[in-house]
Amino acid sequence: MFIVIALDGGAAVGKSSTARGLAERFGLMHVDTGAHYRTLCYALHQAEADPQQVGALAKQLAELQLDTRLDGRSAKLSINGTVPADAEIRSTKVNEDVSKFAALPALRDYLFEYQRGQAEIAREYGYSGLIMEGRDIGSVIFPDADYRFFLHADEATCAARRAKEGQTDAIATRDEMDRSRKTAPLICPKGATQIDTAPLTLNEVIEKIGNLITADKQI
Ligand code: DC
Repeated sequence: MFIVIALDGGAAVGKSSTARGLAERFGLMHVDTGAHYRTLCYALHQAEADPQQVGALAKQLAELQLDTRLDGRSAKLSINGTVPADAEIRSTKVNEDVSKFAALPALRDYLFEYQRGQAEIAREYGYSGLIMEGRDIGSVIFPDADYRFFLHADEATCAARRAKEGQTDAIATRDEMDRSRKTAPLICPKGATQIDTAPLTLNEVIEKIGNLITADKQI
């Protein structure tokens, strides 16, 4: 039995902590696709790429070698043999630019096979499944996922969560850009279970989703 769980939602709704908790509970490999876009944004900044100069992007992307490195249960994207530090991919500069790069179809196409291929990697490593978080997982990357969840929370709750992490992040601006782009916008995928995380603790969110999966008896 191998399951794929798609976990989507906007910025700071609690996706990563929830995904890590569920990965632990069910023995899954965890993939944060937001980190993929952040890592690419960071690498493209290093190459002095500009999200407005789409013409140059193909050549800049062709120079990057993508690989996967496991860090506990989390599979991380390495670029040219390196996984950039969290501080590098969560900097104010990356927070500002990541949605601009993520809106480019060439960049999303570039990541598509890599992201779908994560299920094979999870199988090879003997995990019981894959939990992948992002904005378009249940809609584009794994529309065939066994389970689809969409997390949301009000703006004040999300802002308070980011502030607690000590990050400067224009969450509302990023969400607006992610929702309004033409390619793979942030949406609640068809048939996904929506969960408002604002009134719940992290453990309650994990419990709620975990119990829905267990009740389904597929795992
Ligand atoms: O999850 P996050 O906030 O770290 O994601 C950073 C950005 O990456 C987000 O603003 C939009 C983009 N993203 C995306 O376009 N598609 C995904 N599946 C995941 C993230």
